[in-house]
Amino acid sequence: MSTHSDSRTPQVSEIDVEDLAPDQAKHELARLAALIANANTAYHRDDSPVMSDAEFDALRARNAAIEARFPDLIRPDSPSAQIGAAPAEGFGKIRHARRMLSLSNAFDDDDVANFVTGIRRFLGLAPDAALAFTAEPKIDGLSLSLRYENGALVHAATRGDGETGEDVTANARTIVDIPEGLEGAPEILEVRGEVYMSHTDFAALNQRQAERGGKTFANPRNAAAGSLRQLDPTITAARPLRFFAYAWGETSAPLAATQTEAIARLEKLGFATNPRFRRCATLKEMLATYAEIEAQRAALGYDIDGVVYKLDDLALQQRLGLRSTTPRWAIAHKFPAERAWTMLQGIDIQVGRTGALSPVARLCPVTVGGVVVSNATLHNEDYIAGRDSRGAPIREGRDIRIGDWVEVYRAGDVIPKLRDVDLTRRLKGATPFQFPETCPECGSPAIREPGDSVRRCTGGLICPAQQIERLKHFVSRSAFDIEGLGAKQVEAFWRDGWVETPRDIFTLEARFGPGQPRKLKNREGWGEKSAQNLFAAIDEKRRIGLARFLFALGIRHVGETTAGMLAAHYGNWDALRRAMAEAQPGSEAEADLLAIDGVGPVLARALVTAFDAEASEIDALAEMLEIEPAEARASDSPVAGKTLVFTGTLERMTRAEAKARAEVLGAKVAGSVSAKTDLLIAGPGAGSKAKKAADLGVEVIDEEGWLRLIGEG
Ligand code: IVH
Repeated sequence: MSTHSDSRTPQVSEIDVEDLAPDQAKHELARLAALIANANTAYHRDDSPVMSDAEFDALRARNAAIEARFPDLIRPDSPSAQIGAAPAEGFGKIRHARRMLSLSNAFDDDDVANFVTGIRRFLGLAPDAALAFTAEPKIDGLSLSLRYENGALVHAATRGDGETGEDVTANARTIVDIPEGLEGAPEILEVRGEVYMSHTDFAALNQRQAERGGKTFANPRNAAAGSLRQLDPTITAARPLRFFAYAWGETSAPLAATQTEAIARLEKLGFATNPRFRRCATLKEMLATYAEIEAQRAALGYDIDGVVYKLDDLALQQRLGLRSTTPRWAIAHKFPAERAWTMLQGIDIQVGRTGALSPVARLCPVTVGGVVVSNATLHNEDYIAGRDSRGAPIREGRDIRIGDWVEVYRAGDVIPKLRDVDLTRRLKGATPFQFPETCPECGSPAIREPGDSVRRCTGGLICPAQQIERLKHFVSRSAFDIEGLGAKQVEAFWRDGWVETPRDIFTLEARFGPGQPRKLKNREGWGEKSAQNLFAAIDEKRRIGLARFLFALGIRHVGETTAGMLAAHYGNWDALRRAMAEAQPGSEAEADLLAIDGVGPVLARALVTAFDAEASEIDALAEMLEIEPAEARASDSPVAGKTLVFTGTLERMTRAEAKARAEVLGAKVAGSVSAKTDLLIAGPGAGSKAKKAADLGVEVIDEEGWLRLIGEG
């Protein structure tokens, strides 16, 4: 009850929520909606707040309390409807001028030592030649790319798939560490770094959210991601995000000559950079910095999950170049994973896209490093039985049984794993786990081929699990990436028999579009507009690049990189399709396939078998599409599009560097000489390959000739 000592009638705004009559509540909700909207505009558009954060929060809390009491009165423009709004699908897309990379990982000192030795080897440096690295915390947030043109922030994009990210410019502008304008910057400058939330801000946000009945977050990283990916920038603004700059993308002029100077330059331009950044002259110093940062970890006030080392000299970074998604000149030295003990309640068997039966541990929920874990991977049947793929004991041969106490760990974002089992707590009568020999989804025999650690369902496309997983893979981001058709939607279509194979996606409109008896727009969750949008999005993907198409087929062992390699090698669909049909054991087409660097007998067999077994499905699908030839790499180098083989000793650069350079210039590098080889680069000591090249009439040049050809002679 509210009590008022004076006799005047209280204003509605002064009445306690419990005492409001319905018509008063209605008025009050209208007043609050207007006030809050006004405060938002004043704060964000006009940069002139009309109230304190505390007052603002109080208004929102009052609004939420009234809505809780009078749910029927909730307004369509309710301010609380915007809180925790689903990270919407409505962001524009931005293509990064330079790909946003991720990092390869080192898990112990040996991995770091190998990283350094590998770089020396690549560059052909003596083991004692000076080689400096930088070391800095690996922030556990999400990466962001900021593009400045003539000193002004023009856009901000999330990493996305590394090539294209989401346009979060309006949200990035609300982050205090991100300058709107830069003085003395190159005309074009893309600054990259990590958005994160501090521990204190995270705790306060969760408390506020809980008080308002909003969504709470599992950890600061999720909170940062959820806050940055809000369609309404006023929500982002109300969440205290921070940003550390640690890298860059496109620049119209070099920032500096070393990583250390470049970071100092970014700092001078007004960015926050990490105060624990160090330059290290030796491996010993790198590892000492790691130990130092690890010791400070708990006191930093924000989450980090390791230390990143980068080669200091930017010209050397350039020479080392990139692998498909990671630079050769940097590595993340991860902190040991976090662990916890819990009980194994059961083991489920999941059937994947290629029929693999994967055991999943169902755990009594336990918190591991701040995240509640209730599932963990058990890899395969050998792992459960306590042996590795070669039959050698793991966990000293201890098997895992339902009801056991098990130790769970997680490292970074990966799926939690089991580390160990406590035999002293094993229940009497617990029996070894019997791995199924038939598919739990379709009942077909599940067999293990010699040398394969995985048992697979032999049901192929009659197995519902394989059907659905393939469809999900087909529409995934790196495959067809159809806007509005994600795993959830395609699974629902599959369940109702609307889509069984990828082909059916492209006939959806003909079957469920305008004029059809059953219509997509009448399905739950769909409407006129969303149905139209989906049909348009599907149509748009009828044109698809060769590599994507091949990856989307979901053939075993064919990941994105392999698909890209195969696409580059064969160039167009017809050539690839023909080669797959012809590449039977012992054929020339098979030899040609095996000559592609990175293609071994297992991959070759998987490809040929898949194209054989699913010829009609694949061909019918291809018929419905326009498969674009592999993009010729934008290179006018004389080696672009050529197939090269290196043999013998090179003196001016290592073999690895030569290969990387050739690939950057658009050449394909093969491991052996065949009729398809355009050029053999032979150093001293070249043996059988040079002979074979001579037999086949392939042009042979030496290292000097190679350097001249690539413009470095
Ligand atoms: S450098 C080529 N430095 O870690 C440079 N990344 O696991 C690319 N990250 O995608 C990144 N702290 O989001 C770099 N000090 C740091 C970092 C860092 C966190 C993130 C970044 C990257 C991911 C890779």
